[in-house]
Amino acid sequence: MPMKRFQKTQAPGMEPITKCLAYVLKKTSFKPEIALILGTGLGNLAKRIKAEKVFSYDELPFFPKTTVQSHSGKLILGELGGKKIAAMEGRFHFYEGYSLAEVTFPVRVLRGMGAKTLVVSNAAGGLNLSYKKGEIVLITDHINFMGVNPLVGPNEDPLGPRFPDMYEPYSKRLIDLTLKASGEVKVPAAQGIYIGVTGPCLETRAEYRMMRRWGADLVGMSTVPEVIVGVHMGMEILGVSIVTDTCDPDHLEPCNIQEIIKTANEAGPKLDKLVTAAIRKF
Ligand code: HPA
Repeated sequence: MPMKRFQKTQAPGMEPITKCLAYVLKKTSFKPEIALILGTGLGNLAKRIKAEKVFSYDELPFFPKTTVQSHSGKLILGELGGKKIAAMEGRFHFYEGYSLAEVTFPVRVLRGMGAKTLVVSNAAGGLNLSYKKGEIVLITDHINFMGVNPLVGPNEDPLGPRFPDMYEPYSKRLIDLTLKASGEVKVPAAQGIYIGVTGPCLETRAEYRMMRRWGADLVGMSTVPEVIVGVHMGMEILGVSIVTDTCDPDHLEPCNIQEIIKTANEAGPKLDKLVTAAIRKF
């Protein structure tokens, strides 16, 4: 049902957001400070949250319906690292067939609930050959190579400006605090630029070569739409990647998705530790 509704434009309009928020506020007065999108590998972080209220995506009005391939689909409200957080266990990808209005709808709702900070995580390919498999990288900037933008359509002025500034989408302040946490909990973190693609196919050698020349360090199929919508609403954002495979155009090996998921899951606990220590400082 929401699919059709969102087809014409990439923006959902105010009504679905207001209705979803009204439903949530009827069930809880919990006001998160930080919204967390748990990507591949970070799913276990959900277990660290002292949950006060859990919504299944299915019950939330206008939330996209999860597909078989999607992650489990829960919105968890509770405490983590001494902060009130709202964590999305499971996210929506453009390659699954969702419009960007659907992909980013949860971010609109989380901001509406009160979250001013957004932490986004993902599994990404390493274009920068100095990265090792399982390495954690803090995203310093992005290239939107999806050929589509979640803000296309009428602008909702109460939510944000028509032409949002992309001066500093990834907060330098949050990166510095996370680097401090990284030293304290001894979980090293590199930094890099993320290029967002639609997927679902992986890239060709020629594409990897091009992306490296463009200055990208990481490539992945998520994050960019959610960050654009977060910026639109004035959120302060931290983006974190787990490098799951090496994208070396001159020595490319067949990609093994099972291996990617395994690497993400193995690195997950390190990232859990880092993110928990970081948000304590936010
Ligand atoms: N491209 C290449 N490798 C990857 C990706 C991607 O989008 N995501 C995780 N590893």
